[in-house]
Amino acid sequence: MRSSDRVQNLPPYLFAEIERRVAARRAAGVDIISLGIGDPDLPTPAHVVEALGAGVADAATHQYPSNRGELGFREAVAGYYGRRFGVELDVESEIVPLLGAKEGVAHICMTLLDPGDVCLAADPGYPVYTTGPLLSDAVAVPVPLVARLGFQPDLEAIGRAVLSKARMIFVCYPNNPTGAVIEDDFFTRLVAFARAHDLVVVHDNAYGDITFDGYVAPSFLETPGAREVGVELFSLSKSYNMTGWRAGAIVGNKDVVDAYWRLKTNVDSGMFGAVQRAAVAALDGPQDCVHDMCAIYQRRRDLLVEALGAIGLKATAPKGTIYLWVPVPEGHTSASFTEQVLNQADVIVSPGAAYGPSGEGYVRFSLTVPDARLEEAVHRIAARVRL
Ligand SMILES: Cc1ncc(COP(=O)(O)O)c(C=O)c1O
Repeated sequence: MRSSDRVQNLPPYLFAEIERRVAARRAAGVDIISLGIGDPDLPTPAHVVEALGAGVADAATHQYPSNRGELGFREAVAGYYGRRFGVELDVESEIVPLLGAKEGVAHICMTLLDPGDVCLAADPGYPVYTTGPLLSDAVAVPVPLVARLGFQPDLEAIGRAVLSKARMIFVCYPNNPTGAVIEDDFFTRLVAFARAHDLVVVHDNAYGDITFDGYVAPSFLETPGAREVGVELFSLSKSYNMTGWRAGAIVGNKDVVDAYWRLKTNVDSGMFGAVQRAAVAALDGPQDCVHDMCAIYQRRRDLLVEALGAIGLKATAPKGTIYLWVPVPEGHTSASFTEQVLNQADVIVSPGAAYGPSGEGYVRFSLTVPDARLEEAVHRIAARVRL
């Protein structure tokens, strides 16, 4: 069998490779501590699980859902955006459910890009920002996130030739993998930039509620003019520990949302109705579960920053996400350090270069294991890896 050039040209998906290696070593009896993939270890809140159960028991959810989503789901997303960000969304035209933000990242490329078009992709960034364009026969151009600019892109440094072909830009704050957050007028500048160059901004808001130290992350859509130039990919995965449930939404510019919906009617048949009802329970229900979870991540963040610092690995405490973005010791590349940590300490971290060329020189640690495992991971690195 010969797969398409499109599929053959895909690089191996980072986490699929990591999962394969973890499985192989675990099968051989090795106790691996995985700080690689960002998959929360904490359970989905009980009231959300109960809502799913009630939804499953109702035969009305057993038939094909609609790709527009149940009105109740769209109202819950709109209610959340209103309460959380002060953003009013029209439930008829500005919200379509996603089977997770990842689905949105891949399919927005097919929605907006023609062969040869350029997609500007935050670098380092979620790997699908570059493979999504590839699957649309388009070209992903990495836009470096600059450490001295707080891991924002230098929009002025993007060349004219690239801009003339660019149709969209992916950004994400709170940022995976750097943990950077927006505390200045970046979104305002991004709206002006998108207007000037006729670009669609796709803001990936997968970590909007995972923040620390009192910082509250904005939605891109709060920015004046944002709705004219962009959409946001919203996800319940991280906020409510629902990575397995596949629940999110694309919200914002109605032309983009409508085009997205048209594409989607030919790709899948929507989100399981019971999952939509569970999502309503998450969004409409008590939010103390989110705050409690952030407190746990913040404690783990502090523990890991301190423990890594004590062995000479300088991590800055991020104000958001479930990751630490850590410069590798001198003499290492991100890949060589990752290999050494895996082979000698049985700890998995993610090599920064896997998130784009600008990720070279860093590794990413996930905060998705209990305190004792984080301590054990650092203990093993200190004892077994030459730093
Ligand atoms: C930046 C970013 N976007 C999107 C996703 C995918 O989220 P979802 O589970 O909603 O598909 C992730 C998952 O880790 C992510 O880190």
